[in-house]
Amino acid sequence: MASGLQPRDRTLRYYPLVARLWKLTADTVSQTLFATYADGTTESMPLYSHDAFRQLSYLWLKSGWASKFSYNFSWMGRPIIQMPEDMVMIQEIIHRVKPDVLVETGVAHGGSGVFYASLFEAYGKGRVISIDIEIREHNRKALEAHPMKKRITLIERSSTAPETVAEVRGLIKAGESVMVVLDSNHTRAHVLEELELYAPLVTTGSYIVATDGSMVDLTDVPGGKPEWATDNPKMAVHDFLAGHDGFEIDPEPTRLGITYWPDAYLRRK
Ligand SMILES: C[S@@+](CC[C@H](N)C(=O)[O-])C[C@H]1O[C@@H](n2cnc3c(N)ncnc32)[C@H](O)[C@@H]1O
Repeated sequence: MASGLQPRDRTLRYYPLVARLWKLTADTVSQTLFATYADGTTESMPLYSHDAFRQLSYLWLKSGWASKFSYNFSWMGRPIIQMPEDMVMIQEIIHRVKPDVLVETGVAHGGSGVFYASLFEAYGKGRVISIDIEIREHNRKALEAHPMKKRITLIERSSTAPETVAEVRGLIKAGESVMVVLDSNHTRAHVLEELELYAPLVTTGSYIVATDGSMVDLTDVPGGKPEWATDNPKMAVHDFLAGHDGFEIDPEPTRLGITYWPDAYLRRK
């Protein structure tokens, strides 16, 4: 029998940290990372170990959010308000599912819609329905002129308005596979309402993705709010799952824990 790890086993599997860091000290001379947790327990580990990378990544996510790291990127010329890691991870899922239709709530400058549409362009199939309560004139103009617009339908209305859901339903043909990405208003109540409204559109084996659950970890970061401890998309996902056993969290896409989308990927069984 061949010895050694199989390729898949060699990938890092970190998942988000559950313990809230109290204090982290990196000693580059002794190459040791010391972690002290809120409950007083301590841990030390080699600085360049996988465990230390996991700890540093958790802090890096919080630090990056405070520095607006995710506001620094564009896709095919359109600003995309995402961490590149999350885009690569969702690409893995889109590549596997290859849905006929991807519905996204939250357009902003259009970068995410263009990103999904560009994957569909490469596959030669698939289209995007992008919904935003307000599509600013300059963003609409740039999107209308974009080469990927041929695969994008824009809807300007609240994602939870009954007319919006009816319009989306009308744009999906019988037998088409559907994936949904929720990236609009990130309150627990709004995301839960979106999950209730859009999950029925998701086809078996496909996903509804509730982004930005990392708000739960940002309560102590400048710009974060204490109420985010309970008012966030991750909580909405768990509220939703309590009443819907037809969906389950797929932890695989965010296995590294280096994500703003913890517990985001809900797969329809
Ligand atoms: C985080 S941004 C979307 C970022 C975009 N998906 C990207 O990756 O670049 C959130 C967007 O949600 C929109 N929004 C807020 N409330 C909404 C609602 N009730 N329905 C639809 N869109 C909403 C905002 O106007 C804003 O453009």
